[in-house]
Amino acid sequence: ALGAFFSSIWIIVANSWQQTPAGFHIVGEGLQARAEITDFWAMVFNPSSLHRLTHTVIGAYILSAFFVMSIAAYYVLRGRHLDFAKRSFTIALWFGLVASLAAPISGHFQGQKVAVTQPAKLAAMEGHFVTGDGGTPLYLVGHPDASGGRTRGVAVPGLLSWLVHGDAAKPVTGLDQFPREDWPPVAITFHSFRLMVWLGLLFIALTALAAWLHWRGRLFETRWLLWVFVWAVPLPYLANQVGWIAAEVGRQPWVVYGLLRTSDALSKAVKAEQVLGSIIMFLLIYALLFAVFLFILDQKIKQGPEAPEHPEPAPTAAGWLKAAGARAGTGGASLADAEER
Ligand code: HEM
Repeated sequence: ALGAFFSSIWIIVANSWQQTPAGFHIVGEGLQARAEITDFWAMVFNPSSLHRLTHTVIGAYILSAFFVMSIAAYYVLRGRHLDFAKRSFTIALWFGLVASLAAPISGHFQGQKVAVTQPAKLAAMEGHFVTGDGGTPLYLVGHPDASGGRTRGVAVPGLLSWLVHGDAAKPVTGLDQFPREDWPPVAITFHSFRLMVWLGLLFIALTALAAWLHWRGRLFETRWLLWVFVWAVPLPYLANQVGWIAAEVGRQPWVVYGLLRTSDALSKAVKAEQVLGSIIMFLLIYALLFAVFLFILDQKIKQGPEAPEHPEPAPTAAGWLKAAGARAGTGGASLADAEER
């Protein structure tokens, strides 16, 4: 887990640099121009690195908690490995509750950062076309029409202004402040962002309800909720994917924000068919790996947890004798046998 965490740091730093470039200068001109690092740490800690890393790691923690809860809930429902399953579920539940509560907090700070560093992205995430004079509403649900320049849906007046500026009457910059060719695809950014946030709220609701039932001692009898946890495991995967879609589609039309357009970053040497070919190859390899993953996971779930090598002794004299016998190996086994007789 630590290895995966450290590898994620550099992936996120590289991506964050593309979103909010820092610590470099441009050498050369035209097609020869390239970015050279002038300040390594400014590049690593560019304005969005830490926010993005925190939020992405929280997203991964939510996923791991729901993964464990799904399998543990299944065991409880099937009456298998009950002690192990209940303990696993309980640990994952508290972990998942804390991570789910942390997601909107870190997402909020990240959103405030986006408002400053990538205001066109924030405007697209919120389907906000016209800047206006007063407070900007936040759409709970709706659909943005980029050609008509308006969003229809259910909105809370002034809420976006309050979240961004801490002042419900201060306008948030809309897409009208940017040339049309600098707008990201609005509908995809808007819907993927909304889906992520709604899923985040669902994770809070589910884990909070389960934690409350656990506290009342009724969780493991509430079978419908356990079934919900069994089947909820794809949802955090989905939330992570749509989060990335919101961040990456919202970054368009830039590959390096404000510096290099995606259309200018196309390779002159690699042909479109070669790119398509490698995408298809990657799809096939990942589909294969996914199938192997599902197969091994299914085997592991059927097999269940391995019995501990040295079981916990029962808190009685006989229990201690038995455990001592098991630990002592062949010679000591007779001790346990003697106790049993
Ligand atoms: C519940 C409220 C949430 C809020 C307010 C929120 C906010 C945000 C914001 C503003 C971004 C875009 C950042 C950028 O473009 O720089 C983002 C991206 C992302 N979110 Fe969320 N989020 C929430 C929930 C979640 C949940 C529940 C997950 C996953 C389980 C998640 C996973 C992601 C991922 C993977 C990204 C892309 C990484 C990045 O570039 O930052 N988010 N989120």
